Amino acid sequence: MMRHATFRQLEIFAAIARLGSFTRASEELFLTQPTVSMQIKKLSDAVGLPLYEQIGKRIHLTDAGLELARTAREIIAALERMDMSVAQMQGLQKGKLRLAVVTTAKYFAPMLLGDFSRLHPGIALSLKVTNRERVLERVAENLDDLYILSEPLGSLDLEARAFLDNPLLALAAPGHPLARRRSIPLERLAEEPFLMREPGSGTRQAVEELFAAHGLKPNVRMELGSNEAIKQAILAGLGISVLSRHVLVAGHGRGDPVVLRVAGFPIVRHWHVAYPRGKELSVVARAFLEFLLSAARAYAGGGAAPGASSRPLFGEPRPPVRRRT
Ligand code: PGA
Repeated sequence: MMRHATFRQLEIFAAIARLGSFTRASEELFLTQPTVSMQIKKLSDAVGLPLYEQIGKRIHLTDAGLELARTAREIIAALERMDMSVAQMQGLQKGKLRLAVVTTAKYFAPMLLGDFSRLHPGIALSLKVTNRERVLERVAENLDDLYILSEPLGSLDLEARAFLDNPLLALAAPGHPLARRRSIPLERLAEEPFLMREPGSGTRQAVEELFAAHGLKPNVRMELGSNEAIKQAILAGLGISVLSRHVLVAGHGRGDPVVLRVAGFPIVRHWHVAYPRGKELSVVARAFLEFLLSAARAYAGGGAAPGASSRPLFGEPRPPVRRRT
């Protein structure tokens, strides 16, 4: 009976198994929910056993469902290996590069991809931007070719290369009383209303770790799911926050937050490009990795990578502290 199952149905089922939800699977696959439900009903009929139970909103796979999810992943991986062999045979003429990056890397990843694609116009590109936790989920599911994220990487089974620093700065609105202070103890920062990224964010993790290392906790006033929203909230006077220097560099419009001179800041971090240890990189992924590393070396040396545009790929270097007069 399984012979009646289609590859598309297996793909949908693998997405449901991974995401634990019909809604999220249909969003990811750009399908309507009724289509997803109908395909899964057909798949379940083909298997002849129920594949899942629904408790509240959450999907729980039955034993048959778990077995089918494993099989679906193997089939998908086998076809991807086939795709990769074909791309290998075609060299860099064709093929696909799938890159997943944490939110702050969106300020430079599209430019890198733009330059890479001018060198290799036949390559299809996909860029997923999400928070650290989701990026790590994607690593575990082997969904992309390469990942860009920050520390800590120690416990993860990744091959990783540091290519650029990613300092996290304490930021406030230009008129904030702390903006004029020359040296601010961390205890003082902990008293200020703090605008915090959502759970799962690497920025949030770094902030919590710094405060915890000093026996402190930030005074969270509001949780926001994006760096941009936090930046605007700082400017709106809702509180202070800690964000990557890249967020500041990307600023235009209503001015920028100012950098506070707080003890322990900036939190020193680095961008890494990574892939699961033992994964065989495609020709395209290897070419992009080399391109990225040479662009970063050139940036550090003040030049442009061979083939890269003359725009500063990783943002204009900025003095770390802006003084008010
Ligand atoms: P985030 O990650 O987007 O999850 O905060 C940023 C980082 O880890 O540097």
